[in-house]
This record gives sequence, structure tokens and C-alpha cells, in this order.
Amino acid sequence: MKIEPFKVELWMNEHEEKAVYNTGETCVDSISMEELFELAEINKEEKLTELMQKRLTYGHIFGNPVFKQGIASLYKEIDPEQVLTTHGAIGANHLVLYSMIEPEDEVVAVLPTYQQLYSIPESFRATVKRHTLSPENNFLPDLAEVRQLVSEKTKMIIINNPNNPAGSLMDEGMLKEIVAIAESVGAYVLSDETYRGLTQAEEDSPSIADLYDKGISVSSMSKVFSLAGLRLGWIATRNPEVIEECSLHRDHNTISCGMLDEELAGIALAHKDKILDRNKKIVRDNLKILDEWVQKEKHISYVKPQAGTVTLLYYDFDRSSRELCIDLIDNHGLLFTPGDCFEFEQCIRIGYACKTEELIAGLNKFSEYLATI
Ligand SMILES: Cc1ncc(COP(=O)(O)O)c(C=O)c1O
Repeated sequence: MKIEPFKVELWMNEHEEKAVYNTGETCVDSISMEELFELAEINKEEKLTELMQKRLTYGHIFGNPVFKQGIASLYKEIDPEQVLTTHGAIGANHLVLYSMIEPEDEVVAVLPTYQQLYSIPESFRATVKRHTLSPENNFLPDLAEVRQLVSEKTKMIIINNPNNPAGSLMDEGMLKEIVAIAESVGAYVLSDETYRGLTQAEEDSPSIADLYDKGISVSSMSKVFSLAGLRLGWIATRNPEVIEECSLHRDHNTISCGMLDEELAGIALAHKDKILDRNKKIVRDNLKILDEWVQKEKHISYVKPQAGTVTLLYYDFDRSSRELCIDLIDNHGLLFTPGDCFEFEQCIRIGYACKTEELIAGLNKFSEYLATI
């Protein structure tokens, strides 16, 4: 099966290890097992002894019950049996699309977004109708246009909330409008919610799985919980057909997730509030720094992000985003992601949830560079 190369992943594979200032990272500053145990007030020696004695079998085929309980606690309407655990959110998105989309189907997908969300259905020869978000509209969907894009053939509307790379956030009112559009043609809504919970404002962002019985939420331990190394994500939905189809297909590509990974993820979610407090503080403190920096840089502008860990920085000089990013990484050790990875130009994506010192050092370095333009 032919598929478009995944531009953002290719970029990271080639350049991430060269970074002196990793302002390309999209996870909130990762934590170690030791930090996780400290945070959860678990006796390290006792826990490690217990883990070392475990026989390394497949573990729980349908997912560790404690982990699934923790996932369900992130939603209002979801029970543990309405959750499937996967290899990251990347595996969850793949499993949903692979299970639900047929060649004759149409899907509507927003752009910019995580590329697999439109490239996978395209590879299955489904018709993908793209809805391009714009900075003028704060990277939020134009509902009238979405209404025009759907038809009786629309199988799924695919959104990414909060959005990577823009950092925009659809509120409950807008999500309900999307649900009404989907309902009018009987379509599912797949919402990649990998950054859900990392809001700038106090109120939480609702999940599509709580708002719609054909809503499918995907998320993971990677960004919000700083545990990308566990490689764990999930699908949560109240829709029995989706659970059934995804379980059927999951047997062909997963068997089970790693038993140690799921145990650690279960511990993390049992202490989710502590990790979330840590991580909201990082994204809020760091965005303040980024915002002040953007205000004083005459070559740079942006739509201030509302949630997540990333945003697009627009520049006002004549250079392709790829040329600019290659110059910055190869000659200055500064990692950003070219806008062209998202099919956007005149902009680069920054990840601002790294250690605060690293962000400040990276922005200072970028200022020195911009001063030469
Ligand atoms: C929107 C979005 N979805 C999914 C993923 C995949 O995340 P993971 O597989 O680490 O959970 C990413 C990673 O960058 C992402 O930004």
C-alpha cells in the first residue's frame, strides 16, 4: 500500500539529534521513572523489586485494568470497557482509520494537522476533503465551509483538538456545532486529543467522546503526561461498532501493549492531577516567555496558542521555511520544524514545553540570528 511520506517525522528523524536547543520537541519536558515514583510517593526499591519479579508475558490483552480505569477518569461518559490501548496516539489514529475507512468513503479533515490523519485515509483511496484553517480565523474551523464539505457519503470528520501545529482550541460550543454537522449526515467524528488538558485558561477542554455517541477520542501518555517513552495511547468511544471494529483489527497488529509500560502508565494516571499541575505550569510559564519574545521581535508574529505545546511562528522575510530551518539547525543548533511539513509556508513550528532554561537559551539564539536579517 503506497502512502505519502510523513513529513514531520522525516524531518525529526534527520535533524532532532543535532539540536543544541531543542525547541522542536512537542512533549512537555519528559520525566524519568524515578521522578514518576517520587511524584506518586512510591517506594522506589520496593517497586523495582516487584517489577523485576514479573514474568514478562503478554500481560493484559485488552489493556491493564488500572491503566484503563485511569484513562476512563479523563472523560465524563467513558467506562474502561469503552477504551482500547494502543502503541501511542500514532497507533490509535492508525487503528481507527484502518478499521473504519473504506475506499469508497469520504472524509473531511482539517489542515494543518498531524499528517497521518489525512495521509492514511488517502492511502486507503478514500476521498479526503481538506478544510484549511487560517491564521485570520485563529486556526479554528469555518463551520459554514465544513457544512458545505460534508455529504451523505461522509464517513468521518477528522479534527485535532488542541491543534498541532497551531495550538488553537475548539471550545464546547464549536465542538457541538461540529457534532451537529456530523449528525446531519450520520458521520463519525475522530478527534485527535493528544494535547487535551494542556490549556492556557483554567477551564478544561471537553472531549468529543463525551459530547457525541459517534465521537472517537484519541490521546496518549506522550505529551500531556511527559511519558512518550512508554509508547502508549488509546482510543475512547461510546460507540460499540467502533470498539468492535477496532478490536477486530487490533488483533492483527497489536496482541497487547507492553505490560511494564501499562503498569507505569497506570501509576501515572492514578496521580494525573500532580503531573497535570506540573505540566500546565510549564506550558503557561513558557508561553508567557514566548509571548514576550514574539512581541519584541519585529520579524516574527503569531496567533497566540490557547492550548497544547506548539505554535506556528510567522516570519516576514523572503526564505522558504525549509531553508530557514536547515540553516538554523545546521549552523546554530536550533531545532524548529518547517511550516512545509504541514503544507504551510512563511512559518515554522516551535515547541515551547521544553525546560524553561532551554527555551530561553533557544529564543536568545534565535534573536541573535534575526538581528542579522
Ligand atoms: C496531534 C498528534 N497526534 C499524535 C501524535 C503521536 O503521539 P504518540 O504516538 O507519541 O502518542 C503526535 C505526536 O507528535 C501528535 O502531535
